[in-house]
Formats: sequence, structure tokens, C-alpha cells
Amino acid sequence: MIKAHGLRKLYANGDNTLAALDEVSFEVERGEFIVILGASGSGKTTLLNVISGLEKADRGYIDVDGVELQTLSEEERTRFRREHVGIIFQKFNLIPELSVFDNIILPSRLVNRDVREEEVLEIVDELGIREKLFLMPGILSGGEQQRVAIARALYTRPSVILADEPTGNLDSKNGEDVIRLMKSLGERYHQTILLVTHDERIARVADRIFHMKDGKLSISDREAFSVIDNGEDVVMKEAGKLSAPGRALS
Ligand SMILES: Nc1ncnc2c1ncn2[C@@H]1O[C@H](COP(=O)(O)OP(=O)(O)OP(=O)(O)O)[C@@H](O)[C@H]1O
Ligand SMILES: [Mg+2]
Repeated sequence: MIKAHGLRKLYANGDNTLAALDEVSFEVERGEFIVILGASGSGKTTLLNVISGLEKADRGYIDVDGVELQTLSEEERTRFRREHVGIIFQKFNLIPELSVFDNIILPSRLVNRDVREEEVLEIVDELGIREKLFLMPGILSGGEQQRVAIARALYTRPSVILADEPTGNLDSKNGEDVIRLMKSLGERYHQTILLVTHDERIARVADRIFHMKDGKLSISDREAFSVIDNGEDVVMKEAGKLSAPGRALS
């Protein structure tokens, strides 16, 4: 479903170069739910951008849904993205001149897909933003705008969903509801989800966890996290069983 090998992405950083992606290799199966953890600046957004084709790696191989992205032109990558990928950006990227409803259906319009209003209603109901459907996004709160961005990505029913801190503007209750919704819709529609978060508690719903550090990727299973539930709050504790960097591709 997603295969990456030896991905490298360099940025100029003053007189030096900085490797935002440093020999990143992995495979993700269709329907997997991957959580990406890592400190600020470790390359998480860059990794999502290379998977969506928004950015091209300087080196390496990446195949998403049978499409080899490194060989495509920018125009071809844009078409690939519209047809295969739903993106929830760190900064929501809603169109201010369009209503919530029109924002949600925009990607489907762009690929000439029929719009089914009842499906839109089902998603906005579950996300708790139904009464906002015909408002302009600019007057919504940050958390509401974030849920509109999530609805847009889910509604398009892409085979891959890339979510960059989708719960960053939500309180923990709303955040957990959103993650649960994404996971259940992902399972229902057999979608592959890669989700960036700083919240290690979210990692408990992942099939596998990708850890980014200075552009390098290591991978662990959910079992490598032990869950301590004290009845009020669930604390995730890393058990320190990470696979060594470079051994990520099994
Ligand atoms: N267009 C760019 N030009 C120069 N440097 C960049 C560019 N985009 C990203 N970087 C650098 O690459 C590194 C990785 O950035 P990235 O946005 O992927 O980090 P991140 O893990 O998503 O961080 P955060 O958690 O803060 O969102 C950072 O040091 C960043 O400054
Ligand atoms: Mg980021």
C-alpha cells in the first residue's frame, strides 16, 4: 500500500544542510493505523508531505497505492493527491470564502464525484458540527475548524488519510472522540491512516508507532507501550523496545 525506501530530504539551514528525512524506509499495509511521534522539527510533517506528494524527496523511492511518486511531475502528483489522499493539515487550510459544507465537499467536486448530502450529515453529526454546516469557517472556533478539516478528509473517502496533529486544538474528550471516529471509519472503509501527534496516549489506538528523531525513523509495535490506567487518566509509558533505526524495513 505504501512502500518507502531510502527517502532523503535536505533543507538549507544557514551555511549547513539539514536532513529533514534521513534514509527513511518503511512499509505500511492497507488499513493500518499508524501514529507518528517525535519532537518538534524531527521531520514528521515533511514525511507526510512526501507521502502525499506535496513535496518531492531529494532521493529514495516512494510508492503509494501503486503510484511511484518520485517519477511524477508536480501536476501528476496533484492529481494523485486528489484521487488517493485526504489530508488534515496542521493549519487547517480551509477556504474562507466557502461555507463549511462547501469546504467539506470541495475535494469530491474536484474529482467530479457525486456528493451525497446524507453522508456529509453522518460525518458532521459524529463530529458535532452539524449546526455549523452553512456558516463560514472564519467565525468558528479553532477546534470547530479542525473538525471541519477532519470532516473534509474523511468525506472524500480516500484510500490514505494523512493527519497532522488533528487533535491539537481539541480538549482531550473531543480529541479522543475524533480519534475513535477516524479509526472506526478507517476500519469500515479499509483506509490507511498516518497520524502525527505529540500525545502519547493516542498511540494506544495505533497498530504501529513511527518514531521520528532528527529525520530518522524507527518503528515499534503498540505492545512496546505499556498502559497504566489509574482510573482517571491513562498514562502511556514507553517500554523501550524500539527497533533500531535502519532496521525499520522488515
Ligand atoms: N521549507 C523548508 N525550508 C527549510 N527548512 C525546512 C522547511 N520545511 C521544514 N524545514 C525544516 O525541516 C525540519 C523538519 O521539519 P518538519 O516540519 O517536518 O518538523 P515536524 O516534526 O513536523 O515539527 P512540528 O512538530 O514542530 O510540526 C525542521 O528543522 C524544519 O525547520
Ligand atoms: Mg509538523
